[in-house]
Amino acid sequence: MSPSAGAVTLREALAGSTDYLARRGIERARFESELILAHTLELSRVQIYMDLDRPLSLEERERSRALVERRGRREPLAYVLGRWGFRRLTLKTDARALVPRPETEILVERALALIEGLEAPRILDAGTGSGAIALALADEHPGARVVAFDTSSDALALARENAQACGLEIELRHGDIRDSIEGEFDLVVSNPPYVLPEEIEALEPEVRDWEPREALVGVGVPEALAERASGLLVPGGWLAVELGEGQQSTYAALLGDLGFEAVTITPDLPGRERVVEARWP
Ligand SMILES: C[S@@+](CC[C@H](N)C(=O)[O-])C[C@H]1O[C@@H](n2cnc3c(N)ncnc32)[C@H](O)[C@@H]1O
Repeated sequence: MSPSAGAVTLREALAGSTDYLARRGIERARFESELILAHTLELSRVQIYMDLDRPLSLEERERSRALVERRGRREPLAYVLGRWGFRRLTLKTDARALVPRPETEILVERALALIEGLEAPRILDAGTGSGAIALALADEHPGARVVAFDTSSDALALARENAQACGLEIELRHGDIRDSIEGEFDLVVSNPPYVLPEEIEALEPEVRDWEPREALVGVGVPEALAERASGLLVPGGWLAVELGEGQQSTYAALLGDLGFEAVTITPDLPGRERVVEARWP
């Protein structure tokens, strides 16, 4: 079908959005425009390319424009699209919690290796946010009994919605790692807030201006987690923690001082030190 005069085709909408986003400093403007248009039209990116001359209805133009404008204000793409892939799951994502990161998938990978061979491992996810780690572990180790907690009621509400949407059962609790958390676990896993207050200004606007501050900065929270973990782990249980670049060796030393053994640092895919794990004797 050839577009009627004045109608905007997918090709033109794509070009316009790409230009708009590029002018607002979005690095992968073309790719993100494709994702936003595909999302609006409920098509795949491939289908978009197969139908570039398709005219957009006024309603479709308005809906995609609203999303492109949100992205132009540097709102994270995951919030704009409202869903994001993590491991085998597609999770609902919005400003109530941190966007699950690809590097956190390495933490899940390590956690799965640490509980391999256990039929029904008891797992605690400290600071669960969207529920990403807890749900991925419940999904990929079906016998696991997962408890997840967070200080943020908003994040817990999102985690609950994600658990329901994924059809996975986890126990969600409101709690602070600095207070007492009940239970005995084979694995304590966490991606705690690890950005230092002085680092905030240098972060990308998507992170600095949109993601919950308490998900990013939590002075002393990773250390409190290390101290609390010994009282939560059964003998031989594991602690696995994701940290920011350059923080691993100090944290590994702290775990050694606290009496943990087999302290190991694992890099992420680009080779940056990322996850620290250790066994409680
Ligand atoms: C870096 S985010 C990680 C979220 C999620 N686990 C992920 O990996 O995408 C840290 C989470 O810890 C929570 N948090 C911050 N301080 C906490 C504390 N003292 N105790 C428990 N949770 C805390 C935040 O609300 C946030 O959801």
